[in-house]
Amino acid sequence: MTLALVTGASAGIGFQLASQLAERGYDIVGVGASDRINDLGDRIGGVQVIPVQADLTSAEGIEQVWQAVSQIGRPLDVACLNAGRSLGGAFLDTDLDEELQMLALNVTGQVRLAKHVVRHMAGQQAGNILVTTSCSALTPTPYESIYGPTRAFMLSFAEGLREEMKEHGVGVTALLPGATATDFHHTAGMGNTKFGSNDWKNDPAQVARQGLDALFAGEDHVIGGNQATKDGAARNRTLSDPVKAAEFARSSRPSN
Ligand SMILES: NC(=O)c1ccc[n+]([C@@H]2O[C@H](COP(=O)([O-])OP(=O)(O)OC[C@H]3O[C@@H](n4cnc5c(N)ncnc54)[C@H](OP(=O)(O)O)[C@@H]3O)[C@@H](O)[C@H]2O)c1
Repeated sequence: MTLALVTGASAGIGFQLASQLAERGYDIVGVGASDRINDLGDRIGGVQVIPVQADLTSAEGIEQVWQAVSQIGRPLDVACLNAGRSLGGAFLDTDLDEELQMLALNVTGQVRLAKHVVRHMAGQQAGNILVTTSCSALTPTPYESIYGPTRAFMLSFAEGLREEMKEHGVGVTALLPGATATDFHHTAGMGNTKFGSNDWKNDPAQVARQGLDALFAGEDHVIGGNQATKDGAARNRTLSDPVKAAEFARSSRPSN
């Protein structure tokens, strides 16, 4: 059996990544912050599931995850660096500590975990890493003004790492979901924005499938979502930043 690590596996895109990897025959180390991660084995049967409840914003949480992987004593074949969050609202009003926590999860924690994963996979001259970033990496993100830059960081990190890891037999793929119907915007406190409604968003199962297909096909990145999402991402490669910023604000600006 092969082994996969998925962060943010208790919900949303990460849960879909974990269950679809299980369908492909992978045993799963699934990481989440709350105790609902402990039900993961009941929700995806048929393979070995090792739940790890850890706070990925802290160095201790990352070490706890890596210890769990190391204790299994098997090669790690796939790592999905997926856990992430946002915080909506005008930067004038948002809480600085919450923003620093987001940076710790979306950037610092990802880098810490990637260091372990990359060294392990280089040692075995094999492995595949899927980095969940966002279409928000392709545009300024007013009213989510710290979130978007965290995704741009991870996209650039993934693309650079991909080149470095080629000679070590390790693949790196970036998944850029468009707006996806998960708890994400609710957790970000964005209920009073266009992003707050899940009615029009992409299916997390489709997004995860596109990410895994791209990973196993060795692609450098994939846009996650329907054709409108893919068209929007292509458009964002051509529009000026001020135009994109104004357009993004129409979906992210709080209505009251
Ligand atoms: N949904 C979208 O519209 C969208 C669009 C583009 C990109 N993305 C990206 O997709 C990724 C997954 O988002 P999602 O929509 O699936 O979000 P989600 O449904 O809110 O799930 C977030 C997951 O991350 C875990 N998590 C949160 N904080 C954590 C922490 N401090 N330590 C460990 N785990 C933590 C959660 O665990 P618990 O809930 O158990 O605490 C949960 O499993 C993120 O990187 C996000 O940037 C999402």
